[in-house]
Amino acid sequence: MTQHLAAPTGHSTPGTHTGWWRDAVIYQVYPRSFADANGDGMGDLEGVRSRLPYLRDLGVDAVWLSPFYASPQADAGYDVADYRAIDPMFGTLLDADAMIRDAHDLGLRIIVDLVPNHTSDQYEWFKRAINDGPSSPLRDRYHFRAGKGENGELPPNDWESIFGGPAWTRTADGSWYLHLFAPEQPDLNWENPAVADEFRSILRFWLDMGVDGFRIDVAHGLVKAEGLPDIGGAEQLKLLGNDVMPFFDQDGVHEIYRSWRKILDEYPGERIAVAEAWTPTVERTANYVRPDELHQAFNFQYLGTPWDADRLREVIDVSLAAMRPVGAPATWVLSNHDVTRHATRFANPPGGTQIRTAGDRELGLRRARAATLLMLALPGSAYVYQGEELGLPDVTDLPDEVRQDPSFFRAAGQDGFRDGCRVPIPWTTTGSSYGFGSGGSWLPQPDSWSGLSVQAQSGDPASTLELYRSAIALRRELPGLGAGESVDWLPGMPAGVLAFARPGFVCTVNTTGRAVRIAAPGRAVLASTEVTPADGEVVLPEDTTVWWAV
Ligand code: GLC
Repeated sequence: MTQHLAAPTGHSTPGTHTGWWRDAVIYQVYPRSFADANGDGMGDLEGVRSRLPYLRDLGVDAVWLSPFYASPQADAGYDVADYRAIDPMFGTLLDADAMIRDAHDLGLRIIVDLVPNHTSDQYEWFKRAINDGPSSPLRDRYHFRAGKGENGELPPNDWESIFGGPAWTRTADGSWYLHLFAPEQPDLNWENPAVADEFRSILRFWLDMGVDGFRIDVAHGLVKAEGLPDIGGAEQLKLLGNDVMPFFDQDGVHEIYRSWRKILDEYPGERIAVAEAWTPTVERTANYVRPDELHQAFNFQYLGTPWDADRLREVIDVSLAAMRPVGAPATWVLSNHDVTRHATRFANPPGGTQIRTAGDRELGLRRARAATLLMLALPGSAYVYQGEELGLPDVTDLPDEVRQDPSFFRAAGQDGFRDGCRVPIPWTTTGSSYGFGSGGSWLPQPDSWSGLSVQAQSGDPASTLELYRSAIALRRELPGLGAGESVDWLPGMPAGVLAFARPGFVCTVNTTGRAVRIAAPGRAVLASTEVTPADGEVVLPEDTTVWWAV
């Protein structure tokens, strides 16, 4: 049986629950694609504000918003031209203020995205560095270098951009500058004290605006190895890989985070920071969340794990073990705006985080629902990417002419398929862009999304939306489900079945493609596919997670 509880009421007021972030469910809003209040086809802050009650009812603790700052949008806002201004396409600072206040009134916390690895090429410093010529002192705030070769016609080293092509672009005066991402995203030189000063000031600006935390973009990239050494024969990094590189995960980054932690701690109400750090191992990730550094780091090893019991158990154990010595909570994430949604990843044979085929949708959704119940039963903090609560798949057949991901243009055939997970949310069964806004949507939605809309799923106990609502509500009610730092694996399970106990609770996960009979560990309280225990036994259907009260 599948039990659905009413959505929780009476959230704690932000600031009253000590360590609120340790077991928080944090919902990622991608502002372009969440809700469009002014009908220009592009989401905006007023749209987000209008939908905050939906997020309160979903039961999440906090909302992380991808960047909404002034930006030429060369990388969907991850190219910031002014860190203290809102892009007119998203609204104004007054809209941001209203959104933060409304969120707090509803008991929701707000986490904003901070992009410190690079600025936009339209950032004041970079424009002046270019316009004032080679002797400009502002050039030292970036990585400008002379080229190699007889006339400096070759890039200073062999690094490639993560979006494809060389990581260096030559200016009109012949010097080169470094950009690990698009040429419109020049990397900052964090050895220059003005850079650190500026970001401390930006942190304070948003903390004074009342935000509850920051998601640190490319947190592993700020410091580059001394002398910018060639990578030689090493295979160049693909988008968001976990390899060791002289431009990623250098030990020097930690000093920066120690200084930021001091600032966060000066403010009341437990302001937090979460690192987007793609590192080779979870042990390296743990360095970012030592007690005097950041609070959380995304667990990308978990995100990249295929739907396989042994692999899942291993990554859960390793993740919990890595966090224990530093006292930070583990985090769990299945989808975000950079990877193929998990409903589509699990619809295909295992193959990394960038999948281009729709695969077997029914299978993908079934596994996605099971994977979500597993994630929400683990101790620590969980991240939910907008639309996964509707079971949205990636849109794998977007026509080339609507694509905007910069890596699509720089590296056709490599990555560049991130637009597929960024298609605007369907809110209603009919209407322009299914309730996203009154003026269409910047990426086309498939017709089948009418049936996946919030309106279509609300109140239907079999829907994915109601499954998420029930799971998040139960997570609050079952004491300590998100707390703690370990799980107790139950022995004697058939191959492909995971079972673990938490206080008063058991979670069973059948990752196999066939039904499996086990002894019922307790009273079924929630299941990703309906189950009917009888005579102390239960048949777990294929690809199904069940929560048990014991
Ligand atoms: C991060 C963001 C991604 C962006 C990149 C460059 O990985 O999540 O969307 O393209 O940084 O800022």
